[in-house]
Amino acid sequence: MPLISRRALLSGCVAPLLGAAAAAPAPGTAPRSPPREPGLNARALRKDLFYGAALDTRILRTDRTYMAQVPVECGFVVGEYSFKWSELRPEPDKYAFDHAELLVGYAARHGLRVRGHALVWYQSNPDWLEPMLKPDTGEKLLATHIRTTVGHFRKRVVHWDVVNEAIEPEDGKPNGLRDTLWLRALGPSYIDTAFHSCAMADPHALRVLNDYGMEYALPWQERRRGVMLDLLASLKARNVPIQALGLQAHLDGSETHLDQKLVSKFCADVASLGLKIVITEMDVRDNGLPADIAVRDAAIAAHARAYLDAVLPCPAVLGVVTWGLSDRRSWLDDQMPRADKLPQRPLPLDTEMHRKPLWTALAGALDLAPVRRGS
Ligand code: G3I
Repeated sequence: MPLISRRALLSGCVAPLLGAAAAAPAPGTAPRSPPREPGLNARALRKDLFYGAALDTRILRTDRTYMAQVPVECGFVVGEYSFKWSELRPEPDKYAFDHAELLVGYAARHGLRVRGHALVWYQSNPDWLEPMLKPDTGEKLLATHIRTTVGHFRKRVVHWDVVNEAIEPEDGKPNGLRDTLWLRALGPSYIDTAFHSCAMADPHALRVLNDYGMEYALPWQERRRGVMLDLLASLKARNVPIQALGLQAHLDGSETHLDQKLVSKFCADVASLGLKIVITEMDVRDNGLPADIAVRDAAIAAHARAYLDAVLPCPAVLGVVTWGLSDRRSWLDDQMPRADKLPQRPLPLDTEMHRKPLWTALAGALDLAPVRRGS
């Protein structure tokens, strides 16, 4: 096997070199030769950034064409579902790591790094959990889950979304925290417990607080940005071992309130707390745009480019992950469908795995981004 540099390994450029190790095309289909243009992660690496995508394990198990393109474009993968409690914890005394191991094994074979999502969330929990979350035993239950899960994937999962979607000012709880089973059972310190447990289980993994709705110049998002900054500052003041803010960046291609100066200032405010930033779930929905594909693709690409050109110059930003690589599968078609029921086009590759204007926008933003200086 040719000597492969670490940089090349992490850039996903080696997949074609690995031959058999890459996901081979299904019998009878011509192998897809990687496009000539360097992939998104190869471009990101030139700036000490990274690019990755979320994967659904059903795609991983069944769609060879999709999976053959992942190493061409990505340096990171994250499970849409495979690390969530509902997947990992079928019973109180049972861990089911098989789906997550599928993803981690695929990533290892292709030199990709893995994000774990998410150790604590208010959704996708097994039915047995909330009844067992008592004030006197809940903290141990949470800490044990995190130490067991993070310990199991120690050094094989390099980022953890430790707590997902902890804020919701509309819930009227102190400090704008979301009214969740975790807050009700354990109080605000569930966040502290989660980060400390993760740090103890794998001090090498990046520990991220992940949330949405902080991208636009809208009153409800301005409130969320303020609540998040206050939360981050209070966690840092309490020496909670948080290292980064995850901005989900589920964008809306028809949203007109994208203010680049405001986005840049928010990133700078987060960075001033000594925190890094990861764009963790980026996609651009088109359910508010006309049906015409060329019109949608152009609007989505322009919107994504405007957002990324505001975010990527911030030295604290480590990389960009899109919530999927291809339009073949997006949560948006389930959760936020178009009125005309047309499939949306929120991701860099189309259903034929061809690069779209959104791919070009991502590539252009990465090419324009300044090199991180020792970040
Ligand atoms: O229920 C089956 C389960 O039995 C099976 O093992 C698994 C195999 O993949 O599939 C499960 O089906 C669905 C799963 O997606 C498939 O990926 C679940 O029913 C369904 O609830 C789940 O939805 C996910 C959703 O989060 C809830 O966890 C979406 O895929 C995922 O895209 C979405 O992602 C969220 C982020 O975690 C947080 N930010 C918002 C984002 C979009 O909603």
